[in-house]
Amino acid sequence: MSYIYSPKVMKHFLNPKHFGKIKNATAKGKAGNPRCGDVMEIFLKIEKKNKKEVIKDIKFQTMGCTAAIAASDMVCEIVKGKTLEEALKVKYEDINKELGYLPPVKVHCTQLAQRALKKAIENYKKSKK
Ligand code: FES
Repeated sequence: MSYIYSPKVMKHFLNPKHFGKIKNATAKGKAGNPRCGDVMEIFLKIEKKNKKEVIKDIKFQTMGCTAAIAASDMVCEIVKGKTLEEALKVKYEDINKELGYLPPVKVHCTQLAQRALKKAIENYKKSKK
């Protein structure tokens, strides 16, 4: 068990590929952690492909710690190109694993990323009703 950040965490923190906003996003979702004050927002561009709704593009804006920013970038990396159903199956444990595992006290940062993504997808589904 590691108590320092993995090289992958540092890579995604220092050079996030998906940082930013999407103009005319199809959906947005926000999640916050009242304990630490970190806030994460996810922007989705969703398109239909073979009758399935696919995440064509995804970006994030996060005000938070190193782990929260790395987790935001990683969740974007994992779900880009996936269908909404596949994206909803991504768990915080998957994000943590892909990051090379966060120190235990930072695992909740990956839960924030999972919640922000879920919220964006829920908001999209609500907007279609
Ligand atoms: Fe709270 Fe990272 S310390 S999300």
